[in-house]
Amino acid sequence: KRILFVTSEAHPLIKTGGLADVSSSLPKALADLGQDIRIIIPNYQAIKKTENVQHRCTLRINNCDVNILETRLPESKVIVWLIDCPQFFDYPGNPYHDEYGNAWANSADRFSLFCRITVEVAMNRAYLDWKPEIVHCNDWQSGLVPALLTLEYNRPATIFTIHNMAYQGIFPYSTYNALNLPRQLWNPNVLEYYGNMSFLKGGIACSDRVTTVSPTYAKEIQSSEFGYGLEGLLTHRKEFLCGILNGTDNDWNPEFDNNIVQRYSYKTLHHKQPNKAALQERLSLPLEPSIPIFGLISRLVEQKGIDLLLECLPELLSMPVQFVLLGSGNKSFEQRLYNFAEAYPEKMSITIGYDEQLAHWIEAGSDIFLMPSRFEPCGLNQMYSQRYGTLPIVRKTGGLADTVVDALPHTIDNKTATGITFNESTPSSLLEAIKRALILYRVPEIWTQLQTNAMRKDFSWNSSAKQYLSLYDHL
Ligand code: ADP
Ligand code: GLC
Repeated sequence: KRILFVTSEAHPLIKTGGLADVSSSLPKALADLGQDIRIIIPNYQAIKKTENVQHRCTLRINNCDVNILETRLPESKVIVWLIDCPQFFDYPGNPYHDEYGNAWANSADRFSLFCRITVEVAMNRAYLDWKPEIVHCNDWQSGLVPALLTLEYNRPATIFTIHNMAYQGIFPYSTYNALNLPRQLWNPNVLEYYGNMSFLKGGIACSDRVTTVSPTYAKEIQSSEFGYGLEGLLTHRKEFLCGILNGTDNDWNPEFDNNIVQRYSYKTLHHKQPNKAALQERLSLPLEPSIPIFGLISRLVEQKGIDLLLECLPELLSMPVQFVLLGSGNKSFEQRLYNFAEAYPEKMSITIGYDEQLAHWIEAGSDIFLMPSRFEPCGLNQMYSQRYGTLPIVRKTGGLADTVVDALPHTIDNKTATGITFNESTPSSLLEAIKRALILYRVPEIWTQLQTNAMRKDFSWNSSAKQYLSLYDHL
């Protein structure tokens, strides 16, 4: 099949979160299954181009000249088309924020231009001599694509994958007006959302199939708690909605990881220890092999339950533990975390910023990984953690519920347990899970068995990629 994969980020070209990992590893997995899949993405200033880049064509759309550049995903055969429009994308910052962390004031213009060009490519009007059979869109930034394609004859089939309902691309009517979009799209069955325009709604309402990144989240978003006002539409479309879990690729496999100090597998678990020592040394924590290290790598936002963790920190840090955190986001969370790290320099280390290599070191060097998310469409770090034998503590929601098996007497006995789960979004529920983990950590035979269970679990992309393929085949 010929598939056009539409995304706002793709590792290692540009990454702010899990969408980037998925947008490179899923296309690679589909290419390995023999599919002709190509990625289309804006040519932000921050894009890291390591492969050859070729100019393919220039289109004029909505009074803008736009170049389509062609490159490849590093170490793969997957073609990437970069949508190059300097007046929108040639600025420092990331896909969603400027260099000072403020959301782009012209986000709607940026991504509507991106969507319009994608439609030209999808309809083979961009002189690329290639017409996809499937257009696979991701998150709100590509939500206008399925909507615009409904106006075309002989259009490709469309799939829209929701990675996060919390980001919807909602703009006032005046913005819609200024975008010069076809008038038919201003309609409560398409883009109109209580008097505003919603990119996300366009994607959900107009695609042939809607997917999200875990079966549990697919159910959750049909309720008002997780649906952000679109639960009615999602329930109405539930026949066309399903959840397919993300996978992980070998970038996040301790057996092959080039970033870490010593590679290991469940057969050589003792080689995890040098990674722990290296992490302690790098972060100036006491070199204590037997003290458990809790790790956390995350965008520091409400979704991730950072506030719950902050409430637990005084008690957590009163125990014999170390805690390492890497993340950035909400300034008040950052400041409060800093204050703790300053008060407990022997126990806690915090790194604010984005650091790919440190993320790998934390996965490899920690003992326990914290992910107390309020909601989590899929979550990747809990899967990475299991692969690294760093047992995750997660709240039982979304993809976390689907990928972590709680350590209970019967799951420990039948060797299926891979972490600790808790139910309520409350500090006491999280703290109880932390205490359960510490009790298990003190029993080496059980802990090693849990690590082995987690590390042997199959989180590869292969089975998920096959589910996407069967979805494509039914369109
Ligand atoms: P989300 O996409 O909601 O942020 P995921 O768990 O799906 O959550 O994916 C997050 C990805 O981003 C992981 O690969 C994680 O390691 C990475 N990540 C998040 N914050 C940072 C950071 N500060 N430095 C390095 N990597 C980070
Ligand atoms: C989103 C979600 C996260 C998911 C990722 C990739 O950012 O928050 O749960 O793993 O997308 O699908």
